[in-house]
Amino acid sequence: MSGSKLRQRKKLPKDTTQAQPENDINSILTSGNNTKLLALPILLAVGIAYYLNPKIFADAIQSYMGFTDTEMIGIARVLPGKDIVLDFSADVVKRDAIVRAFQHAWGAYERDAMGDDEYHPISQEGSNLTDAGGIGYTVVDSIDTMLLMGLTQEYSRAREWVATKMSFDRNASFNTFETTIRVLGGLLSAYHLSGEDPLYLEKAIELADRMIPVFNTPSRLPLTNVNLALREGSMDPGWPEFVSSAEVATLQLEMKYLSQLSANSIYWEKAEAVMQVIKAALLPHGLASIFLNWQTGQFVISAMRLGSRADSYYEYLLKQYLLTNRTEVFYRDMYNNAMDAVHKSLIKKSVNSNMIHTSEIIPERHPNGEVSWRLTPKQDHLVCFFGGSLLLGATTVGALVHPVSVPPKPEELSESGMRDWKTGINLIKTCMDTHSTATGLAPEVAHFRIASDGIGQDPRFPSDWYIKGAQGSQKPDELPPYDARYMLRPETVESLFLAYRLTGNEKYRTWAWDIFQAIERHCRVETGGYATIINVDEVPSRQEDKMETFMMSETLKYLYLIFADASVLPLDKYVLNTEAHPLPIFNILPVS
Ligand SMILES: *[C@@H]1O[C@H](CO)[C@@H](O)[C@H](O)[C@H]1NC(C)=O
Ligand SMILES: *[C@@H]1O[C@H](CO)[C@@H](O)[C@H](O)[C@H]1NC(C)=O
Ligand SMILES: *[C@@H]1O[C@H](CO)[C@@H](O)[C@H](O)[C@H]1NC(C)=O
Repeated sequence: MSGSKLRQRKKLPKDTTQAQPENDINSILTSGNNTKLLALPILLAVGIAYYLNPKIFADAIQSYMGFTDTEMIGIARVLPGKDIVLDFSADVVKRDAIVRAFQHAWGAYERDAMGDDEYHPISQEGSNLTDAGGIGYTVVDSIDTMLLMGLTQEYSRAREWVATKMSFDRNASFNTFETTIRVLGGLLSAYHLSGEDPLYLEKAIELADRMIPVFNTPSRLPLTNVNLALREGSMDPGWPEFVSSAEVATLQLEMKYLSQLSANSIYWEKAEAVMQVIKAALLPHGLASIFLNWQTGQFVISAMRLGSRADSYYEYLLKQYLLTNRTEVFYRDMYNNAMDAVHKSLIKKSVNSNMIHTSEIIPERHPNGEVSWRLTPKQDHLVCFFGGSLLLGATTVGALVHPVSVPPKPEELSESGMRDWKTGINLIKTCMDTHSTATGLAPEVAHFRIASDGIGQDPRFPSDWYIKGAQGSQKPDELPPYDARYMLRPETVESLFLAYRLTGNEKYRTWAWDIFQAIERHCRVETGGYATIINVDEVPSRQEDKMETFMMSETLKYLYLIFADASVLPLDKYVLNTEAHPLPIFNILPVS
């Protein structure tokens, strides 16, 4: 774990001919009027050097844009006087290996548990979220991946199941947010990608109508749970007064697209109102804490972070702006303020090699009633979506021109766009570093080393990050800490997908392939399916009997997209919801 692949990789020695033009470019880009006199000779020299060896310039730009590995540049050919031309064609062999992995996962599920909400690949059985019966959690979550992969036989059986067996008439509590992102989102993408098969829209409308009553609260924030048969919202029994920021603010893409399709504005209005409540409740520091009070609509004193219960709040600020084709400036402004706040308070560097990571701010209540805030250098695997999200934001919200180049040129980005781009590139590097474990898979939670962590030079702790509770002697029969697991999560490959599309740098494909290989080696169950592993630092790995639905909807979809041709789901035409269900970007219809 301590030996980081990234840091061990040999840096190419930089000779002076490479260093020189880079410095020139940087000085031109960053200097003001007083260098005008110098500019002409420099430009001439630069022009000649460019003509002689255009690759040097690509390197310099890439390096400036956050790439330090000059050996891995995703540039196919660079022509003098032309824009950089990138090779985005499919890597057919690798792409098809991902398709076979999907078939390995789906085939086992279909054989053992068709229609059940969840799948357990080791015991080879399914289970439902509640005793009231399944709601198509796994089937609907997987359909759009089949459509993208061209798996027509699997698809036609899945469609048949939706048409004849799926029911939402279930008298039990379902999580509002999970049901929206997985089932409603899955139906909406299936509708679009199937060429508007009306079956899916019908089901989507039925499901949303059953959920709409959750929004009928004094604050208009939706309740955590919904009884789909009774059409009633209910509280989270664990936190009866609270709702999660991420959960209430991660329904909007789905509800708005449904309004657009159904010409019924109710979904839009309910979802939009939530954002108004949040905007009004935000404190001057601009960070969203993880809980809101659903009666008052106010934030509750609780942790601030980019991980669980907050993550997709930030993701959807950006994506709401993108879904309606960058017309709703309300979201752009909220996103900009949020990114300023995140940079001010949550982005930190580790002590040893200055690894960019995110921290959490945790409240502590003292006996006298006072609250103080503690910075905790803890980063959930979930946060690894954020690197890619920052790149997407930098090239849209943070861009001065549309569309930007691939990779963007420094002068195409605003100051905050440039800041976000650099943080994004570095955060992805850090997330890849958390894959330098015995299995090559990243833990659920990583703690970063900061000066004040009190660990000092303790040799059991690696210099940049560690898995809490995994130090010291562990008995063979003892369960590793929860933080040590990898549960097939998609967030790192999600960021690699965005980084690849926005830079064309082959290194992101290489990294994605490494992760896929590690999944094949450690998570694959021979009889079918993939399983969670409980300790990323243990080989041979121990598996746990669960295949999360996001394996088929997200992890394998993002891997597929990384190796597919870039004309599949182009980023200027699609926004992917937080469960990787693609929704087409649209223009809001004028009010008649
Ligand atoms: C899940 O629910 C469906 C629909 O009610 C039912 O047919 C199936 O048997 C249930 N599966 C399990 C494992 O209980
Ligand atoms: C729903 O379930 C509750 C408790 O499980 C039960 O009391 C109620 O009668 C059920 N309602 C319907 C309409 O089935
Ligand atoms: C988005 O807006 C641009 C103009 O800014 C337009 O050219 C483009 O067609 C729009 N996209 C969609 C999907 O409507």
